[in-house]
Amino acid sequence: MQKPKILVTGGAGYIGSHTALVLLEAGYEVVVLDSLINASRESLRRVQEIVGRELVFIEGDVRDRACLDRLFGDHDIYAVIHFAGLKAVGESVEQPLAYYDTNVGGSLTLCRAMHAAGVFRLVFSSSATVYGPDAPVPYRESMPRGRTSNPYGTSKSIVEQTLEDLVHADGRWSVSLLRYFNPIGAHPSGRLGEDPQGVPNNLLPFIAQVAVGRRQALTVFGNDYATEDGTCVRDYLHVMDLAEGHVGALNRLGQAGLHIYNLGAGKGLSVLQMVEAFERISLRPIPYHFAPRRDGDLAAFWADSQKAEQELGWRAKRGLDDMIADTWRWQRQNPHGYRSEINVKSQGTSKC
Ligand code: NAD
Ligand code: UD1
Repeated sequence: MQKPKILVTGGAGYIGSHTALVLLEAGYEVVVLDSLINASRESLRRVQEIVGRELVFIEGDVRDRACLDRLFGDHDIYAVIHFAGLKAVGESVEQPLAYYDTNVGGSLTLCRAMHAAGVFRLVFSSSATVYGPDAPVPYRESMPRGRTSNPYGTSKSIVEQTLEDLVHADGRWSVSLLRYFNPIGAHPSGRLGEDPQGVPNNLLPFIAQVAVGRRQALTVFGNDYATEDGTCVRDYLHVMDLAEGHVGALNRLGQAGLHIYNLGAGKGLSVLQMVEAFERISLRPIPYHFAPRRDGDLAAFWADSQKAEQELGWRAKRGLDDMIADTWRWQRQNPHGYRSEINVKSQGTSKC
């Protein structure tokens, strides 16, 4: 029997492209909507090449209601996985309007269009950042959302609250809020991976670019935290594990209501531990120097992901060495990301 059709907004991006791949492999039909503001269609060409199946790609903006209405008119969508958004914390402080417009405005427009189309199943990309600075570790879903320290984090919190209110107001909705911890890694083929534009904000893409010779040295933000080696501790998980978590969440959408899950590996690792592991696996030196703390960084947090394990049958299966070996394979094979093949057009592409 044919599996249902899933709309993946932001599906050309880092997590979205890996999730599109896992969905296709699981037999789902996939429609991707992406404005390509932070992605390349080359990622989707490679997804189709790896899986040997086609998806439908629509180049369009999630804030464009007419585009969404056409999309829902043309495709019988079973559920939506909503990745589309802006995610650079520093940029969000400088451009709050752009962040609220895309992340909050985009989500509202999407929900309105879904309502009009009679589609009430939604998986939303949230973040561990919604727990705020005062939550004790490990973070559990039963803890309240905390205060946020930047417009990016606030935008995630606002959308979570909006979706909670929506589910409360209308019993037809089934919504999963997935709170990601720190996704890293790449598809094991080395053909798909994280391709940040400009200077990477996140740790692993930065380390990988140092290893491949694109950057001279890593700046480690802070070595005076109350952690074992003084550097920040995070819960890193493999992007393929994270992608698989979305398939688990889709199965859960059969049941109306609000479902909240942490998706993390449940283990904290420091910045210096990540540097050491990368050096060990890549056999390349990662020069680094210490600098003052980065605004808004917390010393240490990790997930309690037992709820996802019990209710979705999901847990992060891949270990640190796999995460780093896969990141390194991707970076080595694609030192400049997708850029060299950016003009390739994929089949099934249309503009909204
Ligand atoms: P990404 O930037 O690689 O992907 C986001 C995608 O959304 C991009 O392809 C971009 O072109 C697209 N997009 C942006 N604005 C759009 C718009 N208005 N209309 C249509 N498409 C648009 O980021 P990612 O790491 O894959 O993150 C995906 C989602 O997960 C985001 O919502 C992000 O906030 C969330 N998230 C990411 C992390 C992380 O560490 N990567 C952690 C927590 C949450
Ligand atoms: C960051 C965001 C978070 C967002 C996530 C995904 C902040 C404060 N948090 O998470 O809201 O959901 O990215 O986009 O930005 N580090 C360095 N040098 C670097 C880069 C990072 O030392 O060049 C350190 C950071 O200080 C941090 C750790 O590495 O301690 C991980 O950083 P990062 O990968 O940016 O993830 P988060 O800060 O956890």
